[in-house]
Amino acid sequence: MGTNPKVTVPQIRARKGGEKITMVTAYDHPSASIASAAGIDIILVGDSVANVVHGMESTLEVDLEVMIVHARAVQRARPHSLVVVDMPWMSYHTTPEDAVRNAGRLVREGGAEAVKLEGGEKRLPVLERILDAEIPVMGHLGLTPQSVHAMGGYRVQGRLPDEARQLIGDARALDRAGVFAIVLEGIPDVLARVITQEVAVPTIGIGAGPATDGQVLVFHDLLGLGDGHRPKFVRTYADLRSAAIEALRRYAEDVKGGGFPGEAETYHGSADLVVALEEVESSAGKLRSVSSSS
Ligand code: KIV
Repeated sequence: MGTNPKVTVPQIRARKGGEKITMVTAYDHPSASIASAAGIDIILVGDSVANVVHGMESTLEVDLEVMIVHARAVQRARPHSLVVVDMPWMSYHTTPEDAVRNAGRLVREGGAEAVKLEGGEKRLPVLERILDAEIPVMGHLGLTPQSVHAMGGYRVQGRLPDEARQLIGDARALDRAGVFAIVLEGIPDVLARVITQEVAVPTIGIGAGPATDGQVLVFHDLLGLGDGHRPKFVRTYADLRSAAIEALRRYAEDVKGGGFPGEAETYHGSADLVVALEEVESSAGKLRSVSSSS
């Protein structure tokens, strides 16, 4: 952790229309430590951990236990960034009681400072129960990956006027219910601009154009660590995959060529130890010559 003070939910809420909010995903101790050192406002322990870290097909494959493990690893870095944890699929789709219990586990066992859940108006009963337990909630609208089958794939949402009106209604409903921010994913820039004007809380965009109150990207996309498809909305700020492959190639070359480890990476024994081990070596040598001549 740096010397920066901890970012809080009220501070994020107060950033509406002000300095843009920065958010990245992080799923473990080193990535959280890097995000915090870079002064990122919010770390999202996203359920994208399913695809990005575990190589799964979709976010539908991660459960609460996995999210808790990753959230705890992130919190151990003691980041100054606010830590928001995704509620995984089916952890809030059964009953409001299940949802509040599961959100509570993310806070108590994972160290979440807020939770994020996908969906609009139909999530209100669940949302109210979680907020009633004093757990801050971030909403998520548009291309919501937990609805991949219902959407018929990962498609930009809200392109048609009716769909756009529905999303505006959903955003207003989340805002009234008391979320502290709303992620807008995979929607046209004009719709993101209207939603941002319509709600009192900050919007944080991913594939939603520049008009939102903040932006979020996946850590591995931003740093060029992935080996798969790169969506249009991603900007890659470093090519760490190429740098890592090159570093590992050089390591393998050094090991095979005897260049690693060298003096600097080696522990040396004391003079006494050297003498004692020379005696061991010489008596072993004597034993070998006796047994080979008999
Ligand atoms: O899980 C995730 O990474 C997310 C972001 C795309 C917002 O929900």
